[in-house]
Amino acid sequence: MRGLGMAGIAALCLFTLAAGCVPPPRVAGQPEPAAGAERASGIDPLFLPPSPDTIPGDLRGEAIRLGYLMVVDTRAYGKPYVGNALTCTNCHLDAGLNPNTASFVGISRLYPEYRARAGRKMSLTDRINECVERSMNGKALPPDSTKLAAIVAYIDWLSKNVPSGSTVPWRGIPRITPARPPDPSLGKNVYAKKCVFCHGTEGQGTMAAPPVWGPRSYTIGADMARVGIAASFIKANMPRGWGWTVTDDEAFDAAAYINSQPRPDFPGKVNDWPKGEKPADAPY
Ligand code: HEC
Ligand code: HEC
Repeated sequence: MRGLGMAGIAALCLFTLAAGCVPPPRVAGQPEPAAGAERASGIDPLFLPPSPDTIPGDLRGEAIRLGYLMVVDTRAYGKPYVGNALTCTNCHLDAGLNPNTASFVGISRLYPEYRARAGRKMSLTDRINECVERSMNGKALPPDSTKLAAIVAYIDWLSKNVPSGSTVPWRGIPRITPARPPDPSLGKNVYAKKCVFCHGTEGQGTMAAPPVWGPRSYTIGADMARVGIAASFIKANMPRGWGWTVTDDEAFDAAAYINSQPRPDFPGKVNDWPKGEKPADAPY
């Protein structure tokens, strides 16, 4: 099975006792996920991240541990920088250890990297701050911030078993492609049937799940605000605990619905894709 099973998630929770570290809730009446419901292609042999309960006890380990806490409870540990109700691990599931969901494992090997949206080469710290500003509607951490360095230390540590030069085959979210144009009005029904229970009637979130639209959600400049990315995330992971159970059409329609709802603007969007290459699903 790919990703952390319940045992792995429980181990993470034991390790940190961090607030918000809860195993995915189960909806009454829904079946257990079928074996093989996760990504069918099997575990990539290079996906060998160390477990957070083996973080070393020295000074470097302290930084790694702080980085881990920033990722699993960004709102508490990175409070002044976060402008919404989200935490990194809400999207980078299982603290970045889930190979289907923009995993952090191995990505230290890929930076610095040219990024078309910025039109320049970016370091890993630049990329983290992009998510802080766009996905968390927050303020970039200063370049000399210990907390920013800690997130990098955590990602570096998760990447330590991945050889340099690796293309990190599990990078990102496994993309699905639409068979027809996504339809937000059909997505409204999918949302009512399969999402509202956890994410709330106004997309505002509940005790069980974070917001998916509204003032406390990700901004229009976030990667998740692109329908193709949100659909792929939903297909692989939603409802939480039942990845790969919705159809591709349902994933696209639900993504189109939530991304057609109001959410915070991102004024910096005027500077995006300065040299072209804007993807077709960019919302602006
Ligand atoms: C069983 C409860 C549950 C259901 C049902 C559910 N989700 Fe989620 N969803 C979650 C949880 C919990 C998270 C955060 C995951 C984490 O922190 O590990 C999440 C995260 C998300 C996120 C990314 C974080 C955010 O809030 O923006 C999106 C987008 C999302 N869900 C969309 C959907 C859609 C669309 C559906 C219906 C197809 C759905 N979810 C059904 C529990 C659920
Ligand atoms: C609303 C969801 C969301 C939240 C919250 C979020 N991210 Fe992201 N992040 C994404 C998505 C989506 C991508 C792009 C994935 C893709 O292109 O396949 C991404 C990409 C990244 C990347 C680049 C990954 C790569 O393969 O190069 C890094 C690093 C990153 N995020 C760090 C963070 C950190 C650290 C936090 C918390 C401070 C955070 N993100 C919060 C959704 C989110």
